[in-house]
Amino acid sequence: MKYSIANSLLCIVFLGLFGGLPLSSYAQLSPTFYSKTCPNVSSIVTDILTNVSKTDPRMLASLVRLHFHDCFVQGCDASVLLNNTATIESEQDAPPNSNSLRGLDVINNIKTTVEKSCPNTVSCADILTLAAQAASVLAKGPSWIVPLGRRDSFTANRTLATVNLPAPFNTLDLLKSAFAKQGLNTTDLVALSGAHTFGRAHCSLFVDRLYNFNRTGSPDPTLDTIYLQQLRNICPNGGPNTNLSSFDPTTPDRFDKNYYSNLQVKKGLLQSDQELFSTSGADTIKVVNKFSSDQNAFFESFKEAMVKMSKIDVLTGTKGEIRKQCNFINSELTELGLATMTQQESSEDGILSSI
Ligand code: HEM
Ligand SMILES: *[C@@H]1O[C@H](CO)[C@@H](O)[C@H](O)[C@H]1NC(C)=O
Ligand SMILES: *[C@@H]1O[C@H](CO)[C@@H](O)[C@H](O)[C@H]1NC(C)=O
Ligand SMILES: *[C@@H]1O[C@H](CO)[C@@H](O)[C@H](O)[C@H]1NC(C)=O
Ligand SMILES: *[C@@H]1O[C@H](CO)[C@@H](O)[C@H](O)[C@H]1NC(C)=O
Ligand SMILES: *[C@@H]1O[C@H](CO)[C@@H](O)[C@H](O)[C@H]1NC(C)=O
Ligand SMILES: *[C@@H]1O[C@H](CO)[C@@H](O)[C@H](O)[C@H]1NC(C)=O
Ligand SMILES: *[C@@H]1O[C@H](CO)[C@@H](O)[C@H](O)[C@H]1NC(C)=O
Repeated sequence: MKYSIANSLLCIVFLGLFGGLPLSSYAQLSPTFYSKTCPNVSSIVTDILTNVSKTDPRMLASLVRLHFHDCFVQGCDASVLLNNTATIESEQDAPPNSNSLRGLDVINNIKTTVEKSCPNTVSCADILTLAAQAASVLAKGPSWIVPLGRRDSFTANRTLATVNLPAPFNTLDLLKSAFAKQGLNTTDLVALSGAHTFGRAHCSLFVDRLYNFNRTGSPDPTLDTIYLQQLRNICPNGGPNTNLSSFDPTTPDRFDKNYYSNLQVKKGLLQSDQELFSTSGADTIKVVNKFSSDQNAFFESFKEAMVKMSKIDVLTGTKGEIRKQCNFINSELTELGLATMTQQESSEDGILSSI
């Protein structure tokens, strides 16, 4: 009698812990997630990026952007990496990504190398996150500890990529709401925009500011006149607008606080950049001034915001899968005849899903 009451109490406690809520709500990201199963993963990422950055320093910026474009679209789940197939409408063809995403091959190289050391273990979503952190470090930016344990999605959403990813001609209000939708506040917006301290942008994305801003027939008044002339030289009026400009002309590949000092002297490249400083009365102005005068404050806020962004709607526990090849979900990889290994369900998954 006593025994069975104890049993049913145990059962209630057990159901309370594991039955009432989806198990995945208990699965949390952890920096030590791969410490037993793939202890070398972060050194593999760093080694490959060290190599790549010697011939293509811009790639470090491209990888930080790739992680951002993953996380803002149904969470950090490697959905951005999926190619078009029968069931997938690739996010890579959404306007904010098309002709501008870089680093897909680098991520595939990392994944192939990681699979050799630890097959079927490390998700593509975690590789994107680790690559963004390693890229920051290699560009002399901040370092931080990366929470791990994300799993990869079965889906992508091109429409959501178009809707959720902010545009270079967005006003401050729109930028704030795009970030708020992801749980990121105004300080996060200003700190993360500081990633525009390195990398490049195509003329097509800011050329209206040089010749016909907001259909006024004149340049953007918030653009420094000497900088305006420099940008006009890179992007001639009526040109194909396929040239690139550095975000930060002084240290184009280095992660530093110059982005903010550029904004203070009207040298933001995109409208969305300059909005942070030139919108009258905006609460972002004092944050720009703070980061411009204190690189440590910028780095601290950037780290905090990157970790926050890296946790958006992650798939953990029994959700999602570990893709074998980052551009395809495993079931379609088999159909495409690209699989070299058979899909294996982990026994842990089997036990958990039967509860
Ligand atoms: C605030 C809203 C943002 C807008 C409107 C925006 C827009 C853009 C645009 C239009 C480009 C140029 C793309 C091209 O020409 O191919 C770009 C590049 C870049 N963005 Fe952003 N971005 C934003 C926020 C962010 C965030 C949050 C990050 C990362 C934390 C980021 C990282 C980058 C990097 C590193 C590049 C250079 C990429 C390269 O050189 O390949 N951006 N962004
Ligand atoms: C881990 O990486 C180091 C170098 O980064 C290498 O020397 C070592 O062999 C690797 N270990 C395994 C198990 O792959
Ligand atoms: C780095 O590049 C060299 C030459 O391209 C290559 O031999 C080496 O294997 C590469 N190392 C890594 C870790 O990718
Ligand atoms: C995936 O699509 C990209 C273009 O977005 C292409 O370059 C790449 O070759 C494709 N990958 C595979 C494995 O088909
Ligand atoms: C994409 O996201 C939108 C907006 O959340 C949603 O309405 C739609 O059903 C999603 N499409 C797919 C294919 O998941
Ligand atoms: C663009 O022009 C419209 C009016 O035509 C105005 O309401 C809007 O504030 C302008 N945008 C900017 C960024 O100046
Ligand atoms: C940009 O492209 C134009 C052609 O549209 C070319 O004549 C010019 O030299 C390029 N400028 C730079 C700085 O790349
Ligand atoms: C914004 O979020 C950061 C963490 O990323 C936090 O430190 C800060 O206090 C928040 N700011 C506001 C105004 O809520």
